[in-house]
Amino acid sequence: MLQGDTAQPSSRSDASSEAVSTVVLAAGEGTRMRSATPKVLHRLAGRPLVEHAVRAAAGLDPDSLVVVLGHGRDAVAEHLTGLADALDRPVVTAVQEEQLGTGHAVSCGLSGLPTGLTGTVLVSYGDVPLLDSEALRALLAEHREAGNAVTVLTAVVDEPTGYGRMLRDADGRVTGIVEQKDATPEQAAITEINSGVYAFDAAVLTDALKRLSTDNAQGELYLTDVLSIARGDGRPVGALVCSDPWLVEGVNDRVQLARLGAELNRRLLLRWMRAGVTITDPNSVWLDADVELDRDVLLEPGVQLRGGTKVGEGAVVGPDTTLTGCVIHPGASVVRTHGEGAEIGPDAKVGPFAFLRPGTRLGTKGKIGTFVETKNAAIGDGTKVPHLSYVGDATIGERSNIGAATVFVNYDGVAKHHTVIGSHARTGADNMFVAPVEIGDGAYTAAGSVITQDVPPGAMAVARGKQRNIEGWVAKRRPGTAADQAAQQALSKEPTTNPTNDAQ
Ligand code: UD1
Ligand code: MG
Repeated sequence: MLQGDTAQPSSRSDASSEAVSTVVLAAGEGTRMRSATPKVLHRLAGRPLVEHAVRAAAGLDPDSLVVVLGHGRDAVAEHLTGLADALDRPVVTAVQEEQLGTGHAVSCGLSGLPTGLTGTVLVSYGDVPLLDSEALRALLAEHREAGNAVTVLTAVVDEPTGYGRMLRDADGRVTGIVEQKDATPEQAAITEINSGVYAFDAAVLTDALKRLSTDNAQGELYLTDVLSIARGDGRPVGALVCSDPWLVEGVNDRVQLARLGAELNRRLLLRWMRAGVTITDPNSVWLDADVELDRDVLLEPGVQLRGGTKVGEGAVVGPDTTLTGCVIHPGASVVRTHGEGAEIGPDAKVGPFAFLRPGTRLGTKGKIGTFVETKNAAIGDGTKVPHLSYVGDATIGERSNIGAATVFVNYDGVAKHHTVIGSHARTGADNMFVAPVEIGDGAYTAAGSVITQDVPPGAMAVARGKQRNIEGWVAKRRPGTAADQAAQQALSKEPTTNPTNDAQ
């Protein structure tokens, strides 16, 4: 994947023990996103762009990790605080008040580190999301093995417009980088581009940054000029060519965001398929980077798994299912469902057309069926809520059955209340459980009941109007209608006396 100019074994035995500092540049405005959200907080596979960059850098376990912030710094810093906790390592932030160029940005970054910095400084961008730790590690290895003062990660691309071009001498040695806006037509024709990712000797970088000038087409302090300065001082400068240009592609607008998002998703799907997951139609499945899938999971078409969703061995998800932050245990099946923050037990069944809201927990071999909405509901092992129901703020025991069209009436207009249903209960169709209320183990409730009082174990609760038939009502009140005619016809075929009435 990566090919260096010089790939000799390390001649410096202590090289790998040298300090490594990483600097992620993320101060730019990202005007072309046309967004109220800072560019680096736009998401790909569920993670902000800057998180991809920071995770890649953190993967090297560097001695220090600095992110240079500018536009939208408060929002970005807030995300980084959470990320530092998640990574369980410090992430330092440095502020670049004015965006005076990439060289200036790195100076700001170094100001966040101790003075007299030694070892290697790796620089990358907050808007290059596919660059991974492996590529950074390869750059660091090449840098050390070649004994360079500066090593640039480059790529050969079909369309180099906008990038800095790599300048090499007749022997192929890197001599410098020229920006698009400063390039001659000959230089602009060069297709080897600067990715903007570098490894620098810390002392060389610190010294060269002080000597940058703004004497260029953009009047900026170019980080790229560190190369020619180092070379002018007789320091060895090299490059590592990355044969996978996707890794170094940046996001400047939403078209690129979608393009890189699709590629990242494609790569995630490949990884999971290689790990033993069946994905029927990879073109219609979207996975966040933090999703976890066991072997023999089957993802049917139209599935989106987000926010740390975990799916256990042999479970089936889809078709047409979106799960965010859900845990699906082995052997479960979740069909045409929208779920968030739900945990579905082993061999349980969900859907089609279920809406699982946060706090839903379904036990082993349980069922949440068709047109069922659940929220903050613990539904025990083997318990079934098969049809057309709302289960909110409830605890249901094991092996109970909830009749079709049941509503757990949890809201009195001001506060939410809880309903408890025991194990082996059989509740009738079209029940309202007006919370707070408790139904005991093994209790039954009659269809159409509005349950407002607790039901003891083993009791049958009937809470509905008694049925009354008013004979001849249609003939009297709707004479001559089609209903009346149909009734007359039916009655004329029946025996003159009604056996049921006779019996009473
Ligand atoms: C830069 C490189 C160019 C390279 C390209 C790769 C320079 C002078 N040019 O160009 O050779 O091919 O990246 O994408 O370095 N940033 C700051 N503060 C600043 C300026 C930039 O933090 O003052 C950050 C941006 O947020 C961005 C990155 O640095 O993440 C690159 O900035 P950008 O303006 O995109 O640089 P380019 O002109 O594209
Ligand atoms: Mg750019």
